Amino acid sequence: MRIFLDTANIEEIKQAVKLGVISGITTNPSLMAQAKATDYEAAIKEICAIISGPVSTEVTVEGVDAMLKQARQIASWSPCIVVKIPSTLEGLEVISTLAEENIRVNCTLCFSVNQALLAARAGAAYISPFVGRLDDIGQDGMQLVEDIVKIYKNYPEIKTEVIAASIRHPEHCIRAAKIGAHIATMPYKVLLQMIQHPLTDIGNKRFLADFKNVSR
Ligand code: E4P
Repeated sequence: MRIFLDTANIEEIKQAVKLGVISGITTNPSLMAQAKATDYEAAIKEICAIISGPVSTEVTVEGVDAMLKQARQIASWSPCIVVKIPSTLEGLEVISTLAEENIRVNCTLCFSVNQALLAARAGAAYISPFVGRLDDIGQDGMQLVEDIVKIYKNYPEIKTEVIAASIRHPEHCIRAAKIGAHIATMPYKVLLQMIQHPLTDIGNKRFLADFKNVSR
C-alpha cells in the first residue's frame, strides 16, 4: 500500500517528504482553507515542486461545462496533477470526458460501492472512499473500502486504484493495508502516529543509557 499525505500544509509536506515514505498528496478546498492558501494555482504549484508523485487537486465549480473547463486548466499546471471530481451524475460525465483526454481523475466523495463501480467505468484513475466520514455517521467506512477492492478485483480490466481516504487513526491504515487498498491518504498527524510505539522509545532510551557503561 502506498501512502499519500492528505494536506495542503507546505511545512507538513516538506517534513513528510524527507521521511521518504510519501508517494503523493491529496488536497481539497477545506484543506486549502486550513492551510490559509490565498492563490489556489500558486499553492498547488508549490506542492508539485516539492513532491514528484500525484497531487490531487479538486475542482471548485459546479456544472459539467464549468468543471471540464476548470479541470483542464488545473491539469495544465503540472504533470503531477490529478484532478478531483465528485462522485455525482455530472461528475461521471466529466470523468469520462477527461479520461478520453488522458487527464487523470481522482473520483472523490465516494460513499457507496455503486459510485465506485460507475467511477471505474467512466475511467477514473483513482477512487476515494471516505472512511472516517462514514464512521462518523455510525457506518463501517473500511467495509466500503473492502467491498470496492474485492469488486474491482473481480474485473481485472478495471485499472482504477483505490485510495482509502478520510483516514482518522493508524488502525485505519492497518485495515486498509490488510484489505489491499492501493493507497491510504492520511493527515500528517496520523503518519506521525504510525511510527510511534512506547516500547521503542523505552528500549531506545535504555540502549543509549547502557551504552554509556560500555564506551568508557
Ligand atoms: C481525500 O482525498 C480527502 O481530502 C480527505 O481524505 C477528506 O478527509 P476528511 O473526512 O478528514 O475531511
